[in-house]
This record gives sequence, structure tokens and C-alpha cells, in this order.
Amino acid sequence: MPNIVASTQATRESIDAAVAYLRRRDARPWRLLIILGSGLGALADEVAEATCVPYADIPGFARSTVQGHKGQFVIGTLFGVPVAVMQGRMHFYEGHPLWQVTLPVRVARAMGATHMIVTNAAGGINREYHVADVMLITDHINLVGMAGHNPLIGPNLDEYGPRFPEMTTAYDPELRRYAVQAAQAAGLTLRQGVYAAVAGPNFETPAELRFLRAIGADAVGMSTVHEVLVARHAGMRVLGLSGITNVARLSADEGEPPSHEEVMQAGAQIAPKIFTIVRGVLTQML
Ligand code: HPA
Repeated sequence: MPNIVASTQATRESIDAAVAYLRRRDARPWRLLIILGSGLGALADEVAEATCVPYADIPGFARSTVQGHKGQFVIGTLFGVPVAVMQGRMHFYEGHPLWQVTLPVRVARAMGATHMIVTNAAGGINREYHVADVMLITDHINLVGMAGHNPLIGPNLDEYGPRFPEMTTAYDPELRRYAVQAAQAAGLTLRQGVYAAVAGPNFETPAELRFLRAIGADAVGMSTVHEVLVARHAGMRVLGLSGITNVARLSADEGEPPSHEEVMQAGAQIAPKIFTIVRGVLTQML
């Protein structure tokens, strides 16, 4: 059964309980939270001096039930930066309330993280995008939030951030510059575009995809924006990268329908590119 909890917000107690448990497992402070999307989990293998903590062991945490999501924190250092890497994330479509989907971000802030790199698998809507492209997220359209599901709904956690956080620079300009430089230095093509978030779990209809294109989306996915809202609320600096795992079928007679298998296969091609960009960003962050 999904863990449906009546609360609409993370509470101080739920954050403190998770933080206390994590500190007992590994007391090192975090600087950067990295969230790995579908098929991108291999990056966590590069973490040095790693401590692995399954979400299932952490008080208040939901389990990630999706195939291709291992469901653990890998805590250690990556290219010299103290990190916690999330090998798999929680999704709204799994039935978890958004406060629980984003609890790891609250916890990361409490563990000392000031930065977040968020990755995902996404469908390409921009006609120029191809499978296995990487897109730097420049902005997002949160259709889930616009429909009334937002992890910041409920009593505001004043010690974390303001009631009405602004989102004009949700995706940090300086970190984006680092990513562009890292891609250029490695000879990688890096797309730049707007990520639209839908709830899922179904893939979109052709009419929905045409709608998303019309409103200015370049890629579509089922995650990320909730985590970004909570990170920005807490003043964390965010970099977002989408791996394009399939391209949109804007009419039913074009191309093949998307599948989770296709998403996982493309993820294997995308992971090394994201790894190269993350390495370049971390080296510049040091
Ligand atoms: N739509 C929504 N989410 C996705 C897709 C898609 O086409 N591909 C990977 N995640």
C-alpha cells in the first residue's frame, strides 16, 4: 500500500527524526544533494568513501517503488565535494503526498546542503531534440502545482524560508554557466529549455503534447519541480538536467509509443553525459 499520510506538510519533527537517524549513520555534513532520475543511478557508483542508507530505514521516508530506482542515499565525496546522492526518488504518481516526495530535500538542507543537482528522464517536445540528448533546465512549468498540488501548501516552515518564495531564478544562472562550460569542454551538445511537469503515471496523449509545445515546454516529465520548489524555498542553489529518453509523438500515427523500457535504455546512454557535466560543474564549484 502506498504510504498516504493525512498531513500536507513536512513538520519539524519529521525532518528532525530523519536527520537524527542519518547523523547516527554518518555524521559528515553534506554540501550538495544530487537526485538521480530513471536509468541514471550509475553516477552514485563514483562516490568515494560511500555510506549507503536505504530510504526504507529512515523515519518518515516513503519507499521508491519504481523499477530503475534503487531507493537509497549514497553519502560521501564526489570529485572532492561532500555529497549525498539519491539513487532513485519518490514520485507523486506512486501515491506519496508531496511533502513526503520532497522530505529528502528538507533533510538535505538540515544536513548542511546548500546546492542541489536534480536530474530526470524526460520526453522531448522540442522538435530539434533527439533521444539521448541532455537538456539543461532553464525554467519550468509546474502543471501539477497549477492544478493545486504543491509541496509548500500548508503551514509555512518559517525557519526554512518565506511564505511566498520567488521563482524567477529557480535554476541558478551561475551553475548553468558551469554546466555549459563543462559540456563545451567535453565536446557535448547541451540543449537548454523549459521542463513541464505532469503528474503521470500515464504518458501524454498527442493532444496534451501539442498543448505542452504550444505553452512553451521543450521537455516533459513526472518529477523534479516539487524538489526544486522546496530547495528554492530553503535558499538552495539548483541545477537541473533532463535526459531526453523519448521524443514526443505529436500525432498518433507518428513514431512509436513511449515505454518505461525505452526510458531505461536511453538512460544508459545519457548517464555518461550527465556524469561528464556534473564532474565539470563540481570542479568549478570547488
Ligand atoms: N512523458 C513524461 N515523462 C517522461 C517521459 C514522457 O514522454 N519520458 C520520460 N519521462
